[in-house]
Amino acid sequence: MKQAKKLPLTSQCHHWTRLAEVPWDLQKYWQQRYTIFPYYNDGIYMTEAAWYGVTPEPVATRIAHDLASVVSPSKATVVDLFGGVGANAISLALATCEDGETPRWSKVIAIELDAPTLACAQHNASLYGVAEDIVWVLGDSFKYLQLLLNDPDKLGPELRVDTASTVLFASPPWGGPGYKTDEIFDLNTMEPYNLTQLHRAYRAMDHALYLPRTSDLRQIAKLAPAGTKIEVVQYCVEGASKAMVAYIPAAKDEDDNQDT
Ligand SMILES: C[S@@+](CC[C@H](N)C(=O)[O-])C[C@H]1O[C@@H](n2cnc3c(N)ncnc32)[C@H](O)[C@@H]1O
Repeated sequence: MKQAKKLPLTSQCHHWTRLAEVPWDLQKYWQQRYTIFPYYNDGIYMTEAAWYGVTPEPVATRIAHDLASVVSPSKATVVDLFGGVGANAISLALATCEDGETPRWSKVIAIELDAPTLACAQHNASLYGVAEDIVWVLGDSFKYLQLLLNDPDKLGPELRVDTASTVLFASPPWGGPGYKTDEIFDLNTMEPYNLTQLHRAYRAMDHALYLPRTSDLRQIAKLAPAGTKIEVVQYCVEGASKAMVAYIPAAKDEDDNQDT
């Protein structure tokens, strides 16, 4: 697995400027385009699927700020495991230390499975001037972590990072029955990756999970390694929660034989 080159925008990548261009089922999302990307008119590109899962920029900015303060300053690398069209990766790359100038992260890696979506992310990051500051990967982030932890020589040099100083950010797809309708969302019904799968893959490192706002807090609480606590933050836009993020510390060695 290696760093991706700059990918071309394809016919699946769109910058819609008129309602008439927008498929009917996406029109309500497009109407919120300036909440999602305040600089949409600068030429933001999206795939159709991306409209359902993109993190609104004000939320992504706040998460980037909170992640920096929740984890130890010794953490230097952040990996966005579900890069999408780049909202979180861009905010992470723009995050600075308290001096307002020094980048908070020495390295930002963004991994995305779908080539047109990654092309949108690279293009959008270029509008914010950070495309060159992000190491882009076209591929499966579970495979990446498996190689990083077990077989790092199979990764390109840009992707071989010190796991002790790396933080993971995951905004997985929220498919599955019930996330929009259930009062409390059972995270083990989330598709295609449920909470148990995500946690098994991420538990060795500090990680932040971007989850539906109604997610079952009892399931999240069980992920806390012994003697630690998990911070959970609801992120609101105009008074309504868009999502919650659970900030989960790395498991210690003695937690390794606990099954979650
Ligand atoms: C909810 S979206 C992420 C949105 C992103 N945070 C943003 O603001 O644009 C989930 C993304 O994960 C991608 N994805 C799904 N499975 C993946 C995997 N195993 N590895 C990497 N990306 C994956 C999907 O193609 C989709 O673009």
